Amino acid sequence: MKIDHIGIATNGIENAASIYRDALGMHVTETEEVSGQKVRVAMLPIGESRLELLEATSDDSPISKFLAKRGPGIHHIALRVEDIRATLADLKSKGARLIDEEPRTGAGGCLVAFVHPSSTGGVLIELVENVGGIPGHEIT
Ligand code: CO
Repeated sequence: MKIDHIGIATNGIENAASIYRDALGMHVTETEEVSGQKVRVAMLPIGESRLELLEATSDDSPISKFLAKRGPGIHHIALRVEDIRATLADLKSKGARLIDEEPRTGAGGCLVAFVHPSSTGGVLIELVENVGGIPGHEIT
């Protein structure tokens, strides 16, 4: 497994990206709206992983709720897995609380599913399966 990305809740991805871009020399390679999750995301590659800046597109977005409760900051860690359904089944059999029993489509057309922080020591974990088969799963 690899860390696919680290998700960061922001009040606006353009503003949030500027420190990474201007001070750290990183680049935004993809910006995308993921309507199913009511977010807009910007991806900044770092090594074989990425930072995912998240902005809510609606008041009932999970990111709006997170920001209201905790303010901007690290929202989730995404692990890239080979077979997301098998991983979900393993987690379930070991008693983990799943937010998504079935994978759904996330950024870059990947299959994603979230595991509840109550099962993972307070960390929201996103599982990601790259169904496109492209390293880094760029949007095509
Ligand atoms: Co994510």
